[in-house]
Amino acid sequence: MTTLSVSTSSAASLRADALVVGVAKGPKGLVLAPGAEAVAEAFEGTLTEVLATLGATGAEGEAVKVPAPAGLKAPLVLAVGLGDASEDGYAAEALRRAAGVAARTLAGVKKAALALPADSAEEIEAVALGALLGSYAFGTYKGENGKAPVGEVAVLAARKGSKDAKAAVERAAALGEEMNRARDLVNTAPNDLNPKSFAAIAQAAGKEHGLKVEVLDEKALLKGGFGGILGVGNGSANPPRLVKVAYTHPKATASLAFVGKGITYDSGGISLKPAGHNETMKCDMAGAAAVFAAVVAAKRLGLRVNVTAWLALAENMPSGSATRPGDVLRMYGGKTVEVLNTDAEGRLVLADAIVRAGEENPDVIVDVATLTGAMVLALGTRTFGVMANDDELRTRLHETATAVGEQSWPMPLPADLRKGMVESTIADLANMGERMGGGLVAGLFLKEFVAEGIDWAHLDIAGPAFNEGGPFGYTPKGGTASAVRTLVRYAEDVAAGA
Ligand code: BES
Ligand code: MN
Ligand code: ZN
Repeated sequence: MTTLSVSTSSAASLRADALVVGVAKGPKGLVLAPGAEAVAEAFEGTLTEVLATLGATGAEGEAVKVPAPAGLKAPLVLAVGLGDASEDGYAAEALRRAAGVAARTLAGVKKAALALPADSAEEIEAVALGALLGSYAFGTYKGENGKAPVGEVAVLAARKGSKDAKAAVERAAALGEEMNRARDLVNTAPNDLNPKSFAAIAQAAGKEHGLKVEVLDEKALLKGGFGGILGVGNGSANPPRLVKVAYTHPKATASLAFVGKGITYDSGGISLKPAGHNETMKCDMAGAAAVFAAVVAAKRLGLRVNVTAWLALAENMPSGSATRPGDVLRMYGGKTVEVLNTDAEGRLVLADAIVRAGEENPDVIVDVATLTGAMVLALGTRTFGVMANDDELRTRLHETATAVGEQSWPMPLPADLRKGMVESTIADLANMGERMGGGLVAGLFLKEFVAEGIDWAHLDIAGPAFNEGGPFGYTPKGGTASAVRTLVRYAEDVAAGA
């Protein structure tokens, strides 16, 4: 794993294997970003020209390597693009992305020093977080040919001796390490990550970080009447689990419940998915991974708020014991649901978990789920949908996501779509309704299970949870840890009384 540090040494005097500077697109061509001064000096004023000759334009995503001149203690200079030049500072997201590109480009290198714009604590944190996220590599199944991530990243802070700088890097480490853990969980093959092994990982992390972890196994779920989670898990040789991970702060004045969809593999069940639609379905537990990462990060950051993560874990498989299309499930809390399509399983496990979470009277419930293909059709693969039973909460989560650099969009829960779910069934509800607006229908289904008086929001991360394309910025191929930063920032804001 990559280690982060902060240094106020000059870029010229720091010993490293590579020195990273920022470049941007100015009105008259390539410009160097703040932080690059000492490096530029060592090049005796030729750095911009050298980089431009090598094809650098300053565009986002760009990475150009140059051998370092004498006078620098590093043999290599790497210039990364920040996009359009700016006189009054670069956006945190531009810094995160550039640092991410730098860290990924420098895989295999022992020590990298980042001489990117890093004056304010916010900038330092952004550079550190981008580097840690960009250094991520999933090596579990790779043999000798897997490249090790960059060993150590030193963020060069502009101001000398700032305590803020150290705190900023520590915050980035707590958040980045938990996000990378969420990515590992998503990337782990589904023959290794099942409800039981996921629950064991949560228990171990709980021990390590001092969080209270409770696991309901299949017997406890049966006794408790969790018909949704059991109904989905029925077809699998790997039985389901409901895991509660609780962080409490003695001075907390608010309680948040984060509920995650944790389908460790979604085959579709008896309504089997065709080939071409199931190869990436190990990612269907990304919501559970996100809420788990968020609660651990909340604890590591010592936030003054209570956060409980609920992981609704099951494997959706077809077999002689699987739920059939046509079966009626009695959900936790007593509502009945006719399962018209066993591939609409996420809402079934979430419904049980939302009812259970509501029993503890949190101020807010936020669920996170790779819930519908319809949301991917609507918003593409980089944006998650935000739905809620409260307009302010929906706006707030969308704005929080924007503030931390996650793409999201508010979506409605139109009342007219509800009747399709109610009128099509012999039970209280069916697990699907109209095909059009399928992402909203799923949201409306979940809304039925939120207790009176509790504000609830639903993040459908089916698009951004798993990157099937190539890496970009600080986002790797595979698991992305979508929604973790939004949840953690939201908890931070609530803790700060906002
Ligand atoms: N896990 C899928 C949704 C999904 C699709 C996640 C693509 C990530 C990428 C979910 O369980 C599902 O199968 N949903 C169905 C619901 C339908 C049967 C009502 C869908 O979206 O097709
Ligand atoms: Mn499904
Ligand atoms: Zn699913």
